[in-house]
Amino acid sequence: MKMESFSSLKTIEWKNNSVIMIDQTKLPTDLVYVTYTDYHDVANAIKTLIIRGAPAIGVAGAFGLALAALQSKATTKDELISDLGQAKQILFETRPTAVNLAWGLEQIMSVAKQGTSINEIKDSIISAAKQIADDDIKTNMIMGKHGSQLFDNNDTIMTHCNAGSLATVAYGTALGVIRATKESGKNIKVIATETRPVQQGSRLTAFELHHDGINVSLIPDTAVGYTMANKLADKVVVGADRILRTGHVYNKIGTYQVALMAKQHGIPFYVAAPLSTFDMKSNPQDVIIEQRKGTEVTQLGDKKTAPDGINVINPAFDMTPPELISGIITEAGVAKPPFEESIKKLFEAKK
Ligand code: MRU
Repeated sequence: MKMESFSSLKTIEWKNNSVIMIDQTKLPTDLVYVTYTDYHDVANAIKTLIIRGAPAIGVAGAFGLALAALQSKATTKDELISDLGQAKQILFETRPTAVNLAWGLEQIMSVAKQGTSINEIKDSIISAAKQIADDDIKTNMIMGKHGSQLFDNNDTIMTHCNAGSLATVAYGTALGVIRATKESGKNIKVIATETRPVQQGSRLTAFELHHDGINVSLIPDTAVGYTMANKLADKVVVGADRILRTGHVYNKIGTYQVALMAKQHGIPFYVAAPLSTFDMKSNPQDVIIEQRKGTEVTQLGDKKTAPDGINVINPAFDMTPPELISGIITEAGVAKPPFEESIKKLFEAKK
């Protein structure tokens, strides 16, 4: 496999009226790019985890709508908005938990509604989707700078799942904070959890950090307690798929256990996410936790690891309550408890 600088690779981009993305199901062994010109293929890519990670699927949704605009044979604005509405629904129904997907789709729909002629709408949708992708990188770098101030020289930082370049357009959220801490001259080490069952930690985070020359050790998810009890981790930083106005954080399954364990051992637990990951309207009972297929748990690749016909519970995300969280790092600054107040202030400051 070609060892180009990972930070210079883009998870997703728009080129020649098509969407190009890294097929993350092939990592860490093969770096393969796929190119789509049909929004149905983008929807399928989101559903099958070819692209995954909250900000990355937000951008994929926006680019999916840009393809839908190009595919549309509409001759009036109303017809085009109706075609886009249909595509939006198909893209939206791919994954229910990360709020960035709905956010990206809404941004594009509102741009579409503002235009007048068909061609003008199509052009403005493409520009807006490209802007969302560019902004993602800038946002991550600003977030990284804010977050880096929370970490000290010689810290060992634990992370869960993949909230890196591969979960965004580039640079990453939680891993962006780690990158920025290193770029600020501090010496740091990372502990990445394997993140069963899809193994975003071992396949993606360990790959990405190792490739970028950041010292990373991989642990099985079951070693989080051991690692913390033996003072091998100083701080934790993770990403998020959705954050409520109350500071409840939805992230990859297992995050809650890591946060609980961190509390038990007095280890600060931080979350890094852009403001597009906040859902200021929903309450915990409104959030749908994606349930994934049982074979993710009963098989390792093609090899069966459980008896035939066994019942499986396989939620993709869990909720970490605000009392376990030391701070939420965003591009508008770091929110500290009590979160209802501090999150509100971040949004007011952004206006
Ligand atoms: O199922 P995935 O791989 O899409 O889940 C991804 C996560 O849970 C990430 O931690 C989260 O999206 C934050 S990414 C910046």
